[in-house]
Amino acid sequence: MSDALPGTPIEAAVELARLATLLAEYDRAYHEQDAPLVTDAAYDALRRRNAAIESAFPDLVRPDSPSHRVGAAPAGGFAKIRHAVPMLSLDNAFAAEDFTDFVERAQRFLGTSQPFAFVGEPKIDGLSISLTYIDGQLAFAATRGDGSEGEDVTANIRAIPAIPQTLRGPAPARIEIRGEVFMDKQAFLALNAAQEAAHQKIFANPRNAAAGSLRQLDAAITAQRPLRLFAYAMGECSAPVATTHHGYLERLRGWGFDVNDLSTQLPNTEAAIAFQSRVGTARAGLAYDIDGVVYKIDALDLQARLGFVGRAPRWAIAWKFPAERATTVLEKIDIQVGRTGALTPVAWLTPVGVGGVLVSRATLHNEDEIARLDVREGDVVELQRAGDVIPQIVARIGDHRPDSTPFVPLTTCPVCGSPAHRASGEVVRRCTGGLVCPAQAEEHLIHFASRGAFDIEGLGEKTVREFFADKLIATPADIFRLREDQILGREGWGELSARNLIAAIAQRRTIALERFIYALGIRRIGEANARLLARHYGSVAHWRAQMELAVQIGSEAREALGNILRIGPAIATELADFFAVASNRARVDELTGVLTIKDAEPEAISDSPLAGKTIVFTGGLATLARPEAKAIAERLGAKVTESVSKKTDLVILGTDAGSKAKKAAELGIATVDESGFRIMAGLEVNSGA
Ligand code: IVH
Repeated sequence: MSDALPGTPIEAAVELARLATLLAEYDRAYHEQDAPLVTDAAYDALRRRNAAIESAFPDLVRPDSPSHRVGAAPAGGFAKIRHAVPMLSLDNAFAAEDFTDFVERAQRFLGTSQPFAFVGEPKIDGLSISLTYIDGQLAFAATRGDGSEGEDVTANIRAIPAIPQTLRGPAPARIEIRGEVFMDKQAFLALNAAQEAAHQKIFANPRNAAAGSLRQLDAAITAQRPLRLFAYAMGECSAPVATTHHGYLERLRGWGFDVNDLSTQLPNTEAAIAFQSRVGTARAGLAYDIDGVVYKIDALDLQARLGFVGRAPRWAIAWKFPAERATTVLEKIDIQVGRTGALTPVAWLTPVGVGGVLVSRATLHNEDEIARLDVREGDVVELQRAGDVIPQIVARIGDHRPDSTPFVPLTTCPVCGSPAHRASGEVVRRCTGGLVCPAQAEEHLIHFASRGAFDIEGLGEKTVREFFADKLIATPADIFRLREDQILGREGWGELSARNLIAAIAQRRTIALERFIYALGIRRIGEANARLLARHYGSVAHWRAQMELAVQIGSEAREALGNILRIGPAIATELADFFAVASNRARVDELTGVLTIKDAEPEAISDSPLAGKTIVFTGGLATLARPEAKAIAERLGAKVTESVSKKTDLVILGTDAGSKAKKAAELGIATVDESGFRIMAGLEVNSGA
């Protein structure tokens, strides 16, 4: 991947599609399987590239864009709670330069060159939680989940003595307090020792131990685990409680929350940069794990104006500590085959400790990466591990061994022997065997039963692999034909667990259309695209019929599919290719035969007068910097473009509006001045003059 941005929209669309698939895969591995595939740094580089292409080609932003997504869908077992204010993530910085870039972006957005005051807080490696207090009493608590909807863990939170049930002193009638639940390093080691003695699950790190302890269906177990909380953020709030973030932290302390003692008000950028190394030095001596520092612009009115872009606030950034490294021998390069046939090289290593974890496997991403690193079996390599992710090889150390040979990409699939192709412009080589390939069929089943799809409790990855190996299930429909007597008597299965699994499967015989579409595992149809399709077509029968018609290039159905806002022709081709294959159609029909698939609700539309309008800003604005004005319009559902054309609905004329104003007049396009825009955007009330 070169650093230059794609030159043409087609190149950009192709790369955005590739990044969407890749990042979705990484997100799933990280959030759902707790088994990250890449380092934070590599992940972040991909996200940044995605964002850069999106800002250069805003028309090509995909509905399943990684920028729209945080975390993973909520797990089964807990009721869901919708967050009144989305729980988002943070952008990362890795060096002082990234930090100053962040500051400059915020200044540009606000159209100011004034320095900001910040609060620096250790970035706690735990899990974020939302606590809603009504009339000073803890009313409910939710995990972050996918950012818009989390799990109801109220009972578990009530079992943690460190979290106040009642706020001390006066507080707004309704306030949502956010913070990080975590476990001290010592407590984690003691818990693991006790778990081991009792033949129970061992946790990989304090963060997993905290998550596993909180997300217990039996809150009595949570009560026995030494969980702590640092409060650090606000969700919804019925009345203002402070004007600065450091003032808010003081209020939190007053109400009885633990606030991290290292949290410090920092008057400017220089102070923030100095704080990073101070906390870095303090890190090793802390009782708990931290992986960086979170910097927040202190003034809450500025936070409100800066708002959010995609998944992260413009007013905060997480500056991560550097990754830990070690040196070892690359013993063997293996090839893994994924759900969509992607062949991924994996390195087997002489086990080595990196940052307290024994590592024997690392990802090599793809054949270009092997070529770039110029690594061979037998080489000494440098390994990097950041946070929780699968370690990555970053460099070869020294020369190749004299008898070593370079890695040769496979031209056939190592599992099924079908040809393995690498399409031009793609970095990934794929097995062409489709579901005939046992590796793809197996991964497909895992995807089908997984969280965002059918979410079958008790049918996790390990169980699917076992059942697949023993030929109990070969296709998704087989899952619904499983019987208790086939499971009973298998190792590790008792009467209760077998019955529970059959019940969990039965429960999923009724499924939402969007989940059904997503579960089919069609390339490029992630959860967001599946939702779009479901909302557009409404029922499974209509969708199925239209997809078959859309196989025909140039057909009305194909045009309609490609014209769905944000689906576009490339994804339409993917769907058509899927439905062109008779065995795929048969698979869909087999499933619709045994399932009840619920119709989808149509999409809600914003009631702003700007919703759905294509608008252009021209000339200088007096009250808003251009980026902020653009963000406001987009939030209300407008599409903001650069040039005036017949497709433009509205032109906002600032001072000294020039050729664009003239063009708008020629084309007879509606125009408003800045004040008119402010009224349309709800920023001020029409005085009726
Ligand atoms: S503020 C909108 N402050 O980091 C931003 N987050 O990478 C709200 N985290 O989801 C988050 N320590 O789980 C914030 N002092 C801190 C934090 C912190 C840890 C976690 C949190 C968040 C994630 C983002």
